[in-house]
Amino acid sequence: MRVLVIGGGGREHALCWKIARSPLCEQLFACPGNAGIAEVASLVHFDVTDHSDVLESCSEFGIDLVIVGPEAPLCDGLADTLRAAGIAVFGPSAAASQLEGSKAWAKAFMARHGVPTADAWAFDDADALSAHLSTCPVPVVVKADGLAGGKGVLICMNREEALEAARAMTTEARFGDAASCVVVEEFMVGEEASVFALVEGDTVVPLQPLQDHKRRFDGDQGPNTGGMGAYTPVPAVDGAMLQRIVDEVLVPVAEGLCTEGTPYRGLLYAGLMLTDEGPRVVEFNCRFGDPECQPLLLALDSDLLPLLAATAKGELAGVEAPVFAGGASLCVVLVSEGYPGSYPTGRRIDGLESLAGREDVVVFHAGTVEVDGHTETAGGRVLGVTARGPSVEEARRLAYEAVELISFEGMGFRNDIAHRALSRG
Ligand code: AMP
Ligand code: GLY
Repeated sequence: MRVLVIGGGGREHALCWKIARSPLCEQLFACPGNAGIAEVASLVHFDVTDHSDVLESCSEFGIDLVIVGPEAPLCDGLADTLRAAGIAVFGPSAAASQLEGSKAWAKAFMARHGVPTADAWAFDDADALSAHLSTCPVPVVVKADGLAGGKGVLICMNREEALEAARAMTTEARFGDAASCVVVEEFMVGEEASVFALVEGDTVVPLQPLQDHKRRFDGDQGPNTGGMGAYTPVPAVDGAMLQRIVDEVLVPVAEGLCTEGTPYRGLLYAGLMLTDEGPRVVEFNCRFGDPECQPLLLALDSDLLPLLAATAKGELAGVEAPVFAGGASLCVVLVSEGYPGSYPTGRRIDGLESLAGREDVVVFHAGTVEVDGHTETAGGRVLGVTARGPSVEEARRLAYEAVELISFEGMGFRNDIAHRALSRG
């Protein structure tokens, strides 16, 4: 199979690393890729927003399967264009991607299909939004409706913060078009977990649950980021809880999309709050999480390519379930100084060679670039140091040992990845 992966972050490096190991992979291409991806795939360059350019490149390189990493091209209908041209693609249609692309749409969809989530109200009028926030119970959560790169959620602990959030969402440029509609949600309390599933029509194949660490600093302090680390498995999601999430969330979503005439084909990411009343949805994403994809694929023993290809071709019901042989995996994200705010780039990264060739530790690249034979930083999230071991403790020990071997000026990371799993004793 000739495969094209779209994207250039840590998630796409993990996808390429895993796909390149498949005996079914004849040749692997990535657009735009990064310095790590270049070690396992041929980098190609085209404009992902120009669909005719994408189709031309697919034909030039003889692509049999396209895997779309990030959400923006999916919400923009790239999977629809490719499918209409007869190219197999792993990733949902623009219609089904609204689960991520519009929080108001996702909320209304969940209400139609009885999926448990926080109560919510959508506003496209600034006065009505302020009026609601002046009287609603607090804490309350205020969200920009559209894609905001993980920065469109404001948790307001009191009335003052709620009114400030209303002002910010409706006036500040940082939320842009994403906040032309604002969703206000009831605040939920509990431990968070992410459950990913391959979904094709009404077939749902759940993968091993994960936990992300969204805040920048230890102890879940500081601003929200794209994700500072992740690990799997998650003690809070045992087999019974996973089955509940499949039955109460994933299957109703897959079936609901079929009923509405927009069946799903790709990876469905359910961000969940494990509340006293049971699992409730915080958000859906229409693609693998980043950095969650990195430890997930290091922990996966099965060949990934047949699973992605079967999902893309409408044959998921016939494939063997993915195997995670009981091991754990953990990823520590190394970030540039200043992230998630502005940060410098072009800083030389040392120590990567000392980890090359390891099977238990893989350093996935995110914002990196190769310059004159060495690797430099080129983004906020730079590397995902990912280790696999027999337990979360062991994977964590290996990952942090590896972090010690890497350095660049201003390098930052969290020291407490998996603290929830480990504090359970
Ligand atoms: P989201 O981008 O929707 O996943 O939200 C980012 C983070 O905000 C989540 O990971 C949660 O920690 C928090 N959050 C979002 N919605 C809620 C909610 N309704 N109640 C409590 N926390 C929330
Ligand atoms: N790590 C969170 C996300 O990918 O949305």
